[in-house]
Amino acid sequence: MAIDAGQYSLDPNAESWEIPSPAMTMFDFDYTDGREQLLRLYDKGTRKQWIGSDRIDWFQDVDPTNPVGMPDELNPLFGTTWWDKMNEAEKGEVRRNLEAWRFSQFMHGEQGALICTAKIVQTVPDIDSKFYAATQVIDEARHVEVYSRYLHEKVQLVYPLNNNLASLLDDVIRDSRWDMTYLGMQVLIEGLALAAFGTIRNMASEPLAKSVNAYVMQDEARHVMFGRLALRDYYPSSPPPSETSARSSAWTPATACVTGSWARRSGSASTCPTRWGPTSATASRSACSAATCSCASCRS
Ligand SMILES: [Fe+2]
Ligand SMILES: [Fe+2]
Repeated sequence: MAIDAGQYSLDPNAESWEIPSPAMTMFDFDYTDGREQLLRLYDKGTRKQWIGSDRIDWFQDVDPTNPVGMPDELNPLFGTTWWDKMNEAEKGEVRRNLEAWRFSQFMHGEQGALICTAKIVQTVPDIDSKFYAATQVIDEARHVEVYSRYLHEKVQLVYPLNNNLASLLDDVIRDSRWDMTYLGMQVLIEGLALAAFGTIRNMASEPLAKSVNAYVMQDEARHVMFGRLALRDYYPSSPPPSETSARSSAWTPATACVTGSWARRSGSASTCPTRWGPTSATASRSACSAATCSCASCRS
């Protein structure tokens, strides 16, 4: 299917994307100073490693007219006159393109997580955070690998990175502050991704896509916890990112969710940042990072 390059931030044929990313490299020579909860998470992250080619049954066939197997009712075109006029072959092509687009954004986002986590290893001041982030680097590489394999082998169609995700990744990677890498990637983007993965886990009927998402989700829950643990100790002694920042609409509530103060500040039970965005209407409680978020809306 022809792709209109004007819809995307990157040329569909582009093979790379460069973002200037100044960073301060930090050594920590206090090798014996580790926070117990973070070291436990590091231990868990090491033990829970899995191998994509072994753990997932890649011999399963996938219906090219309905990869992932999401209900048609969730298709944005469902219920429109365009949908009603399509024959079955045309509907199959719409489903294939929609899922190729969705899984392509997951794949590109996972590469963003891979890059951000490697940057955290370099820039975070504490050795225990460097330890855990190192386990997450291999997690994110595996996530890129499994989404790429699903797209290239089973759907056989890949879309470029879309404008909105590109803008978010650009903001996070361009910022030199180590806590902004955490806040943007570990809390905001990973939290939203968990909600999207959860929707697929709960509603998809295609076994291969379900198992890919389920294994990725197991890792992602640890990742959000890592961001929260590291920032919880940092923000009480350091002011959160400036509220005059152009990105304050996103950063401020995300910071508050980390510190557990968002629900108190807003007085609302429906404003947890991990439930923001287009996925919020369909995100289930389990898809929210409820296991890791301490705000009142997630605890209730
Ligand atoms: Fe990931
Ligand atoms: Fe992650």
